[in-house]
Amino acid sequence: MVNPNETTGAHYDSLFAGDAKPIADGEPFYNVHLSYEDNYARGPFGRFGQALKTRVAVETNAPAPGQRFLGFPVNLPFGIPAGPLLNARYVNAAFRMGFDLAVYKTVRSRSWPCNPFPNVLSVHTKSSDGSIRPGSPELEDGLLADEQYDYPISISNSFGVPSRDPDTWQPDMEEAIASAGPGQLLIPSFQGSRSEGMSQDAYIQDHVSTAKLVCETGAQLMEMNTSCPNEGHGRLLCHNPKLVGCITEQVKSEIGDRPLIIKLAYISSDRDLETMVEETAALGRVQGFSTINTISARLIDAKGQQALPGKGRERSGVCGDCIRDTGLDMVARLNAIRQRMGLDFRIIGVGGVMHPDHYRAYRQLGADAVMSATGAMWNPLLAQQIACTRR
Ligand SMILES: Cc1cc2nc3c(=O)[nH]c(=O)nc-3n(C[C@H](O)[C@H](O)[C@H](O)COP(=O)(O)O)c2cc1C
Repeated sequence: MVNPNETTGAHYDSLFAGDAKPIADGEPFYNVHLSYEDNYARGPFGRFGQALKTRVAVETNAPAPGQRFLGFPVNLPFGIPAGPLLNARYVNAAFRMGFDLAVYKTVRSRSWPCNPFPNVLSVHTKSSDGSIRPGSPELEDGLLADEQYDYPISISNSFGVPSRDPDTWQPDMEEAIASAGPGQLLIPSFQGSRSEGMSQDAYIQDHVSTAKLVCETGAQLMEMNTSCPNEGHGRLLCHNPKLVGCITEQVKSEIGDRPLIIKLAYISSDRDLETMVEETAALGRVQGFSTINTISARLIDAKGQQALPGKGRERSGVCGDCIRDTGLDMVARLNAIRQRMGLDFRIIGVGGVMHPDHYRAYRQLGADAVMSATGAMWNPLLAQQIACTRR
């Protein structure tokens, strides 16, 4: 909920250009012209890279007295969701830049390759307000994707949820947890992995054993990605609330008192969303929802050809500026269900946050915390801009 005690900060002028337009830093912290592996080895870039070289934090947000998120003290309930923070160096830089909530890139029970380069293209919509909605014909006809990266920006997200082997990500996650300053929180993200011919039980167990590996790093809470394809069903795992209920029941019994958040893609029907809540939060299996993930779209180049090369890449997840209205809609509906059912789970609003006004819009609709992936990648000052203008 919006905290009426939040105060106006001091550095407003230096963080905005003229009429309160946010400045997008020239160099995103993830370099879209390099492969995922190069970003993992050499990043983060731009101001995030510089923040790692300075001895002290660039800027820490003033703590709001008594402000907590899922029981943990958090200065500003704003951060970066699963994906762009590839390893402990990225997480450390995010904390130093004032993103007080940082989600460690989704990990798996075993190493998993990244889709071939390129993974990110700039995506352009035709609608007058720049937004796309699930079900819109544009998503099937094709959205133009190219290399014109203008801010505010929408992008393709075609990575395939790569992961290191646990022998690599466990010590790195431990380091990431240790890099949080006072009032900052690292949230590890994980998901289950299917393989050919895998039984449902084995798939559920893969979630449980990955959650156990996350616990071994000292994590005090975690997020489970359910907005991934549930192979064999031709739809996302979060579109099968019963299965999510079974998985979260077993994961929760493995992780004990640690809060469990689940990451949801957009769910269009109120009834389906309510069923998701009934199968998870209402039974104490889940303490929070983070939503939304990307929206799937067909991507084409200027000649109308498939934009991302390779089989199975006709479509890609799209995120950034164009999905904000859909994210706000999902948060508002989830909040209404929370109120109707008298539950107290937490909501993390995600999708298209590029500007402090977007943070406030999510908070006003009921988000307890807000995160930005695409917006933060292109604007490393976003957390500081929000901190300076909270009221
Ligand atoms: C580069 C990148 C990688 C991502 N990888 C993941 C991931 O591994 N797991 C996940 O749950 N979401 C992933 N996401 C989705 C984001 O967490 C977020 O839900 C989505 O991008 C919408 O937010 P945005 O509009 O601020 O980008 C990724 C997003 C980006 C931009």
